[in-house]
Amino acid sequence: MIRIEEARDGDLSSIVRVERASFPNPWSEESILSFVSQPDRRACLVARDQKPGDGVIGYTALQFAADEAEICNLAVLPSLRGKGIGALLIQSAVELCVRNSVSVLHLEVRRGNVPAIRLYEKQGFRRVGIRRGYYGDGKEDALLYALRIGS
Ligand SMILES: CC(C)(COP(=O)(O)OP(=O)(O)OC[C@H]1O[C@@H](n2cnc3c(N)ncnc32)[C@H](O)[C@@H]1OP(=O)(O)O)[C@@H](O)C(=O)NCCC(=O)NCCS
Repeated sequence: MIRIEEARDGDLSSIVRVERASFPNPWSEESILSFVSQPDRRACLVARDQKPGDGVIGYTALQFAADEAEICNLAVLPSLRGKGIGALLIQSAVELCVRNSVSVLHLEVRRGNVPAIRLYEKQGFRRVGIRRGYYGDGKEDALLYALRIGS
């Protein structure tokens, strides 16, 4: 049984573990901490197994500005992918946005990141733009997605 909840300071090292296992250029510990410890403008949701003491197995980081928000990062431990944890994190992020009266949730994703694109589209995000050559010294496009909330 997977539980999604707001991250606590003590989750930092296991979030970093998920991050490092998921990206070739992972966020630093400081970057992640800024989402855990700034509850007014940022949020970090973690997925953890129900068993007490179990560490974080996935996480998402969000940023809020006026009535809009952005999913800045999302990752699930490689060994536990394909089990619906990413979808649960997105659904919890949307619920958090509803509680914060957010009207649009944005994100960007590499054109080649098929698992993430399928996940976002399945969760109702629509492609709204493109930044050509945004990643890796002009090598890969960023696709911009948005989800209207409460309409
Ligand atoms: C993207 C990521 C978070 C998805 O997490 P996940 O827990 O595996 O996703 P889920 O199991 O909830 O999958 C939900 C849907 O996403 C799609 N999906 C997930 N993995 C997929 C894959 N390998 N290939 C194709 N579609 C995939 C499917 O549509 C799936 O729904 P279905 O199982 O009913 O077909 C995970 O792959 C990850 O951590 N990737 C590395 C980090 C990353 O790229 N983050 C996104 C940055 S923008």
